[in-house]
Amino acid sequence: MDVLLLVVLCGGLCYASSESSLEPLTDHVVVLKVPHKVRTEDHVPLVCRNDNQTQAVFWKKDGVELKPPLQGNQVTVVVEEVDGGNYSCHSSDGQYLNHTVIFVHVETEKVILREISPEEGYIQCSVPNYSGPFRCSWSRTASRSNAAVLLLNATRNGREIPCELDADGSGIQCEEDNCPYKEEQHRIFLTTHIRRYYRLETYTKAFYIKDIVRPGALSNLQRSGANVFSWSYPDSWEKPCSFYGLNFQVKVVRHAQSCDSEAPILGNNTDDTKFEVNVKTKKYVFCVRAQDRYTEGPFGPWSNCVVNKDDVSC
Ligand SMILES: *[C@@H]1O[C@H](CO)[C@@H](O)[C@H](O)[C@H]1NC(C)=O
Ligand SMILES: *[C@@H]1O[C@H](CO)[C@@H](O)[C@H](O)[C@H]1NC(C)=O
Ligand SMILES: *[C@@H]1O[C@H](CO)[C@@H](O)[C@H](O)[C@H]1NC(C)=O
Ligand SMILES: *[C@@H]1O[C@H](CO)[C@@H](O)[C@H](O)[C@H]1NC(C)=O
Ligand SMILES: *[C@@H]1O[C@H](CO)[C@@H](O)[C@H](O)[C@H]1NC(C)=O
Ligand SMILES: *[C@@H]1O[C@H](CO)[C@@H](O)[C@H](O)[C@H]1NC(C)=O
Repeated sequence: MDVLLLVVLCGGLCYASSESSLEPLTDHVVVLKVPHKVRTEDHVPLVCRNDNQTQAVFWKKDGVELKPPLQGNQVTVVVEEVDGGNYSCHSSDGQYLNHTVIFVHVETEKVILREISPEEGYIQCSVPNYSGPFRCSWSRTASRSNAAVLLLNATRNGREIPCELDADGSGIQCEEDNCPYKEEQHRIFLTTHIRRYYRLETYTKAFYIKDIVRPGALSNLQRSGANVFSWSYPDSWEKPCSFYGLNFQVKVVRHAQSCDSEAPILGNNTDDTKFEVNVKTKKYVFCVRAQDRYTEGPFGPWSNCVVNKDDVSC
């Protein structure tokens, strides 16, 4: 949006509280950025009409008339902490003229989304192959499960990537068909603005497709000899693009332990699609998962076979 509007909107009053600032987000929407939440009080100037109309104007907040009444084409409202609002102005006969929504962004706080991990941040993206659409997801903290996505934007090198928001608002799927016969030069930048009431938070993520390619579960995992296990590439590891080979991480863990066990009986890597297990015990779990061999990106999920003497279930 243009800077001119901001100047008109602010009229010099914008920076009433030295560290807060006001920025337009979209038509009719401004974001008040405050440095912290506690006991802040900011004066935000609002203009009903820019066309110098002389008619009397009064204001409502979230559809309710203000007490004491707020009147005039140009007014200033006080926003305390995260108490933004939808301010609409009306002619004296009550007719709607215009509105401005004030969202509050507390710059030092992130409370709407849950951090997945320090490395991943708040948004996790993945794709099972190099040519399909990628998915990004996030999860809202329990007390803010009704937060909604206000705006989102994915771009690469200035070009917008079309994305579709999940019905429940907890993720997106984006169409970026890119079969990387050549090196990826630019990152994908993802920005999502999430609101809960009038609190707004902005989350961003920048990544290359090659860093989020996470192979799917392996198919046809079976015991094919006395102690030999074999499997195939995941069904979703597509053919057109896949001169890309996979690496496999193999692990043998104690019976009834999970594949994530930190104390495996045996661990190894292979680029072959079979593995011979050399252990004394007759009860164990054979685990295997895949990773792009060249980028050494994220691992896919574990696939496993539970072995109890001659009884094998994969
Ligand atoms: C209505 O308010 C918006 C700001 O929320 C402003 O951009 C727009 O110019 C106003 N419309 C008119 C007709 O003045
Ligand atoms: C509104 O009035 C001001 C001062 O009276 C004037 O400078 C400005 O050009 C007018 N704007 C419009 C859109 O008529
Ligand atoms: C704000 O109020 C106006 C007028 O009632 C309405 O059209 C608009 O959808 C509201 N916007 C939001 C974000 O609540
Ligand atoms: C998305 O971001 C790009 C680049 O940052 C910008 O040019 C574009 O206007 C944005 N689109 C929306 C809908 O915010
Ligand atoms: C690539 O992954 C997408 C899901 O993102 C899937 O729909 C598609 O079938 C996969 N491509 C192949 C060739 O398996
Ligand atoms: C991994 O497997 C290879 C071939 O099966 C074998 O030569 C190597 O000793 C194994 N390494 C470990 C640490 O078990």
